[in-house]
Amino acid sequence: MAERKKLTIPDLYAMVERGEKITFLTAYDYPTARLEDRAGIDMILVGDSGVMCLLGHATTLPAKMDFMVEITAAVSRAVERAFVVGDMPYMSYQPSNELAIENAGRLIAEGGADAVKLEGGARMAERVEAIVRAGIPVMGHIGLTPQAASLIGGLKAQGRTAETAKQLIEDAKVLEEAGAFAILLEAIPARVAEIIVRNAKVPILSIGSGAACHGQLLIVHDILNLFEAFTPKFVKKYADVASVMLQAFQEYIADVKAGRFPTPDHEYRIPKDEWQRLLELLGEGERR
Ligand code: KIV
Repeated sequence: MAERKKLTIPDLYAMVERGEKITFLTAYDYPTARLEDRAGIDMILVGDSGVMCLLGHATTLPAKMDFMVEITAAVSRAVERAFVVGDMPYMSYQPSNELAIENAGRLIAEGGADAVKLEGGARMAERVEAIVRAGIPVMGHIGLTPQAASLIGGLKAQGRTAETAKQLIEDAKVLEEAGAFAILLEAIPARVAEIIVRNAKVPILSIGSGAACHGQLLIVHDILNLFEAFTPKFVKKYADVASVMLQAFQEYIADVKAGRFPTPDHEYRIPKDEWQRLLELLGEGERR
């Protein structure tokens, strides 16, 4: 049974130091976060992917700060041990350092997150530096960065040419120098990720970027088979919760239609004397 003490950045660094892989999942709600924490997950990302998984949007771009703060707070309330990372939504940090600090502060103060994550390499280094200078830990995120999908040619693997791979290696260095406490690599070739890991002084986390990274992230709705729109190559499904839910819904519908639910076991009772008084009040005396 994992220790229940809240994990901190030094704890994550110590895990890397002793060669222990960091486990990382997304969560967007209280019950899911509670179960992940109870299972012993090390980190939870309250991702802007929540607007796709929970609200049915086709991209992450419609995510709003208020929504992210609300779901981050729900996850933080659920967690005893896991390190919680709040994701900065589209246009909550891109326009200016001031806006970035203000919104990162909301995820920490109102959302209860332990750190924030934002997308982008060298072009976002100034934002990372500004938020870190304000005392807030920042996780960098490079490779497939969904908020910049149109800039990077769509939701597809990145760094598959020598030039783009070199750029990612440089981006990771720049983010580390800007003060990022960890860097997430999304959908980049495993061999390129290996070079980044070899050069890094901070934990390098992977979502679809190979086994050499210090930790692995997946989206909870992907591993439970609850997200139907598409399944990236890097996803491993650990349970078919969709089938379990579908079967439960079908059985409920069939029970109600057939009169098998509710039964007396699911009904509230009125005490006999109160029933008698009610009949009298209704003027129905002993008739019933
Ligand atoms: O929002 C999210 O879940 C993410 C992951 C895809 C890395 O940013």
